[in-house]
Amino acid sequence: MSLYFSHFTPKIIFGNDCSNEVGSHVTALGGKKVLLVVDPFMTKGDMLSPVLDSLRKESIAVEIFSEVEPEPSLRCIRNSVSSARLLDCDFVIGLGGGSAMDVAKTTAAMLKHEGDIVEYLGANKFTKSGTPTILMPTTAGTGSELGRGALFYVEERRTKESIFSDFMLTNLAMIDPKWTLTCPASVTASSGMDALSHAMESYTNKFATPISMAVAEKAIALLTKWLPVAVNDGTNLVGREQTALGAMFASIALANANTHAVHALAYPLQGANRIPHGVANSVMMPFVFEAISDSASDRFERIAEIMEIDTQNDSVSQALFRLSKEIHLPETIHALGVEFDQIPSFTTHAHQNRRLMNNCPKDLSEDQIRTIFMRAMGN
Ligand SMILES: NC(=O)c1ccc[n+]([C@@H]2O[C@H](COP(=O)([O-])OP(=O)(O)OC[C@H]3O[C@@H](n4cnc5c(N)ncnc54)[C@H](O)[C@@H]3O)[C@@H](O)[C@H]2O)c1
Ligand SMILES: [Fe+2]
Repeated sequence: MSLYFSHFTPKIIFGNDCSNEVGSHVTALGGKKVLLVVDPFMTKGDMLSPVLDSLRKESIAVEIFSEVEPEPSLRCIRNSVSSARLLDCDFVIGLGGGSAMDVAKTTAAMLKHEGDIVEYLGANKFTKSGTPTILMPTTAGTGSELGRGALFYVEERRTKESIFSDFMLTNLAMIDPKWTLTCPASVTASSGMDALSHAMESYTNKFATPISMAVAEKAIALLTKWLPVAVNDGTNLVGREQTALGAMFASIALANANTHAVHALAYPLQGANRIPHGVANSVMMPFVFEAISDSASDRFERIAEIMEIDTQNDSVSQALFRLSKEIHLPETIHALGVEFDQIPSFTTHAHQNRRLMNNCPKDLSEDQIRTIFMRAMGN
């Protein structure tokens, strides 16, 4: 079969303290009045000073929106859009984890579109570019800064739903690993396993491209080596930097090949039980791979090689269980409070997520998905 693929990546600046230069990049992109959508943790003390100083040096006006909740709901977007409209902002910066960046990029798109955010859930609903954006991650994981999607909790349906549009790609991603130094171990572990699931699912994806596969391999090598260091020794700057680099490669892979069954089976856990995105993916990953590794076996063999696993006595799933233990994440969904009577609806929900399930190298039936959930309960 001959090759045919496209590739999306915004401009990236990566490096410790690069966020101190943000002002000149806003000016270069034409911004005069910025809405700074920021994770509430970043408003503590003088953490924001380097960013604010850099913006002031360029005479750029700044309004701070810090009402970002983890795993944000649509209400959060309505509030951020109202603030930006009230203040007539012409530029949005997102500084935070996936939650703050998803709010920032969606706010920027909504500033150039009429109506309510609920009308834009799903794929390709935006019809034009939003205001320009710069995204700066403070966690190493979600890849929101490099992708065209955003995820929100929809209260009415108790579901996690996505917005996807080419118009959501940022103008500039500034990845400054130093932001992650203050990440608690639990957030480092959760966002890092999200990144690892992006790398492994994109690598084994039916629609993987030569570029996404090359960067996913790099991501798997870096994350499996450095994530335990970043979690267990959070002040280790090399560990933080290498984890951020691994997450960046995983994000490029995610943005171009997407995820599949791990994310599809993890979504119901996030909607019904409000389990954090990265934790839900982490716990489902070994069980899903155990069930599908006979399809795409060459790719799982290559993952085992990268992870230096002796496949005669060991497997990628077993290595993932050991990694979860090392970074103190739960190994079953039972440990996260999931009840047996939730499994039928989780199964239907996951099976119906054709957007992701159609990317899976194995066509999983409802029965097979139910079995995966039952195994993940510890049965
Ligand atoms: N757009 C995408 O492509 C994409 C991909 C994966 C996940 N997501 C979404 O991203 C969200 C999860 O993002 P996340 O895992 O980055 O976590 P998060 O943004 O939800 O933050 C989690 C917690 O960590 C804190 N935090 C963040 N950075 C910190 C830092 N440097 N120091 C101290 N505390 C810090 C926050 O205050 C918050 O309490 C979910 O809503 C998920 O669905 C989006
Ligand atoms: Fe994810």
